[in-house]
Amino acid sequence: MIVGSIKEDLTKEKRVSMTPETAKNLIGLGLKVIIEKDFASHLGIRNKDYEKAGVEVKNSSIEVLDSCNLLMKVNCPSDDEINNLKENTILLGMLNPSKNKNLINEIIKKNVKVFSLELLPRITRAQSMDVLSSQSNLAGYRAVIDSVAEFEKAVPMMMTAAGTVPAAKVLVIGAGVAGLQAIATAKRLGAIVSATDVRAASKEQVESLGGKFLTVEQSEDMETAGGYAKEASDDYKKKQAEIMKDALKKNDIVICTALIPGKPAPRILTEDLVKLMRPGSIVYDLAAEQGGNSAFSESGKINTVEGIKIIGVKSLMNSLPLTASSLYAKNLFSFIRNLYSREKKEFSINLEDEIIDKSLIKGV
Ligand code: NAI
Repeated sequence: MIVGSIKEDLTKEKRVSMTPETAKNLIGLGLKVIIEKDFASHLGIRNKDYEKAGVEVKNSSIEVLDSCNLLMKVNCPSDDEINNLKENTILLGMLNPSKNKNLINEIIKKNVKVFSLELLPRITRAQSMDVLSSQSNLAGYRAVIDSVAEFEKAVPMMMTAAGTVPAAKVLVIGAGVAGLQAIATAKRLGAIVSATDVRAASKEQVESLGGKFLTVEQSEDMETAGGYAKEASDDYKKKQAEIMKDALKKNDIVICTALIPGKPAPRILTEDLVKLMRPGSIVYDLAAEQGGNSAFSESGKINTVEGIKIIGVKSLMNSLPLTASSLYAKNLFSFIRNLYSREKKEFSINLEDEIIDKSLIKGV
């Protein structure tokens, strides 16, 4: 069986879906691996690095699409790429099914089996394949680094002969995978960190990282069976806004990470709430591409309002594409290892396996 990968649209995506390390691992499973020429040269990974790992480098994407049984991608393939996909190929990627409905239906019509790894169940056995976790972890880290770069003060408490510099205060809204990594990163830099989340279970996790948890009192359980957040009620939103009022006056940097799967990001910081922050403060909105947790946030822009900078994130993984690719490629390798039967030497789409069943798109 042949596993292949082609270049992404470099104007939008710098990550790659296969590294020389994961290519070697795939070959170790008994698979043949092919890529398009200059697949990762923009990241400084040369054709010969892949060749050393045992990969065959083809001259064009068409040659790859023409011969592979399984295609690895980061994003959804383009119209042209779809046209060149063979029947019965398997496609793996982060295909964003809600946004790319039409393209994905086109692909399914070609009898291609489409797996979108954002749909994986958040179960222990799927952790090594969990693309949302691997990329969100990096997003949480990078959010803090970018915010601190924009913040015009020092973060850690410093006692100097010229006086004491107070530690910066960081508030994290949404303590899921990205939020927890943001807390850990801000703590490492010496900030005083607090966080809030609708899921009661996150309190213990925040505290175990040395953060203070801001609890919004609520009797209803706000966590779904899948571990995600439910949309907050109006009553909850009111109580949360009260807690935010006090917190925003005290904090220097707010990192927003709150999301609800399949819905626009919850709007947590209204215009009035943002304006309570001191001039020089930062709001970093990791949810900007899903509509934003904060007023004034626009994806890909930094807006300054009354001296407060509101940073709307866009394609954040393009800021650390080497690390993001290395984790993403390992996620895909783990998925393929589970999909490939070494005895039968074929990919086995066993719908009794929850991982395979939930990530296979049957039509959108
Ligand atoms: P996400 O990216 O969908 O959301 C981020 C965070 O925002 C979540 O913690 C959510 O509760 C919070 N949020 C949503 N609305 C909010 C609001 N109005 N106010 C404040 N916070 C709000 O979630 P993510 O990071 O993908 O994690 C989802 C869950 O899955 C978490 O419980 C995580 O620990 C769990 N998980 C489990 C894994 C496993 O293998 N068992 C692997 C990865 C994640």
